[in-house]
Amino acid sequence: MCGIVGYIGNEQAAPVLLDGLARLEYRGYDSAGVAVYDGKEIEVVKSKGKLAVLSDMIHGGKDIKGTVGIGHTRWATHGAPSDTNAHPHLSQSGRFAVVHNGIIENYLELKQRLMSKGIEFLSETDTEVIAHMVEYYYKGDIFDTMVKVLNRVEGSYALGVISVDNPDEIVAVRKDSPLIVGTSENGNFIASDVPAILNKTRDVYYLEEKEIVFLRRDGVEIYNFDREPVKKDLTHIDWDADAAEKGGYEHFMIKEIMEQPKAIANTVESRIKNGRIVLDNITLTAEQIKSFDKIYIIACGSAYHAGMVGKYVLEQLTRKPVEIDLASEFRYRSPIVTDKTLVIAVSQSGETADTLAAMNEAKRLGARTLSIVNVVGSAIAKQSDDVIYTLAGPEIAVATTKAYSCQLAVFYLLALYIAQETKIIDCDKLNDMINELLLIPEKVQSILDKKEDIQYFASRHFADKDIFFIGRNLDYAVCLEGSLKLKEISYIHSEAYAAGELKHGTISLIEDGTLVVAVATIDRLFEKTMSNVVEVITRGATVLGVTKETKTIMADTCNFIFYVPESIDIFMPSLSVIPLQLFGYYVASMKGCDIDKKRNLAKSVTVE
Ligand code: F6R
Repeated sequence: MCGIVGYIGNEQAAPVLLDGLARLEYRGYDSAGVAVYDGKEIEVVKSKGKLAVLSDMIHGGKDIKGTVGIGHTRWATHGAPSDTNAHPHLSQSGRFAVVHNGIIENYLELKQRLMSKGIEFLSETDTEVIAHMVEYYYKGDIFDTMVKVLNRVEGSYALGVISVDNPDEIVAVRKDSPLIVGTSENGNFIASDVPAILNKTRDVYYLEEKEIVFLRRDGVEIYNFDREPVKKDLTHIDWDADAAEKGGYEHFMIKEIMEQPKAIANTVESRIKNGRIVLDNITLTAEQIKSFDKIYIIACGSAYHAGMVGKYVLEQLTRKPVEIDLASEFRYRSPIVTDKTLVIAVSQSGETADTLAAMNEAKRLGARTLSIVNVVGSAIAKQSDDVIYTLAGPEIAVATTKAYSCQLAVFYLLALYIAQETKIIDCDKLNDMINELLLIPEKVQSILDKKEDIQYFASRHFADKDIFFIGRNLDYAVCLEGSLKLKEISYIHSEAYAAGELKHGTISLIEDGTLVVAVATIDRLFEKTMSNVVEVITRGATVLGVTKETKTIMADTCNFIFYVPESIDIFMPSLSVIPLQLFGYYVASMKGCDIDKKRNLAKSVTVE
């Protein structure tokens, strides 16, 4: 996820761009840049780091002259955060500048083709191919050029382009990435999100898929790819800027919960090509994978809970023994790790001190390391032998939701990849699983569409003092995450138990009206979990059952039931965790807690 702003009008462009980017910094903050046409050429200034670094470099924009420009705040996906990888990117001759939000999935193929024609690339980004393609295909008609380029591009994009040849316009287009157009008497704007331009105008057009817009000083024209003009109604925005930054949601946490279908789709779809898992950037060979006699997963907090799911899934699909440990324990207990061990470090931030130290300890002991990380170029990503990025985009709320879901998605991809490369699963079964994995985003969406059911249930329990979660196997791993989500943001005491373990002591805590959330999504364990549900109900518990749509029988026993769609057992955590995240969120919201900034907690834990 990145942020785009563009401006053409009567004012100096650079300060307008910087102001807009400042309001989009929640979309990306590892580097930023602007490109402004000064009457002769396009001047580009960009820098790694927060927007303030760029702003200081050009004195709040005063150093750059010109009334047409584009700007970008980056959240790295292809190529680490650096000055060179920052946007805007220029074409070979410098005549075109491009900003992009999204992922060009076939960029490697396009890059090779352009390089074979003698075009030199400066960055490691997928975006740079667009800048070079625009120049390569440009024969005097920018509309034709854009259509030609975009017909060759696979993936998602919101693009803004300026050029020396057409200095009095900005061309912009979108597919699967957001882009809006703002209009005012002083000029016209493009932006990834409304807050970027609220200071300047409240009149916007929402672009639809594959609509291409030409912004000039005195107006905007919108077309479809067939060059037919599109008539749109202006929308007048009346929200305040703060609400707008959260896309109209009350908190970043619920915004990020709602972003999960897209985040999971981004993480999964770009790694499946022609029905096969393709992990382009990892260097592990099938022979190396076969030679590992053990896999270790190390992580902290929610990433550890994702690792618990990973353990079950990897063991089931690869038939290799998998151990999981908290990074803070692993590093101090002389773990048994050799050069035949694959150690997987999981971290959203990529900076968690314990996970980094544990991973480096594993390396010292000779293990091969692979990390699952969200922040490109972070310490864990850089120091591991291989990295598979979760493509969740920046996560702002301190309680993780979408990064956790994307960590699960990467574990599925990795387990299926190992099964595919070692041929341990027959082709038909593998294909069925890959096809099912691709359906997860829409199934998650169907759960989110029923969020009001959970909101209602939360309204009955937000004053509870203790809440328990029970489940077996993968359901237990999800319970750990559900319980953490609830307690960390609502401050209600909560514990998660393997359903069969409760009766070994803790069942004494169940009293009349104690809420127990029972997750039962695994067919072969359903009856077993149900007997534990009966045990707690007998002792007076109120039970919320979370199960698959086909298990309607659970409703006969539980006080409240929430159904999630059917899927293969190993993928059920991606679905069953959603109502638990929503429950934690709504309970905390009804209690009036400061959800995005919990007490005593920081987003990135860089101390032991
Ligand atoms: C809980 C949460 C934390 C993190 C943990 C690890 O909602 O976000 O438990 O999962 O601090 O952080 P990362 O994934 O950045 O290593």
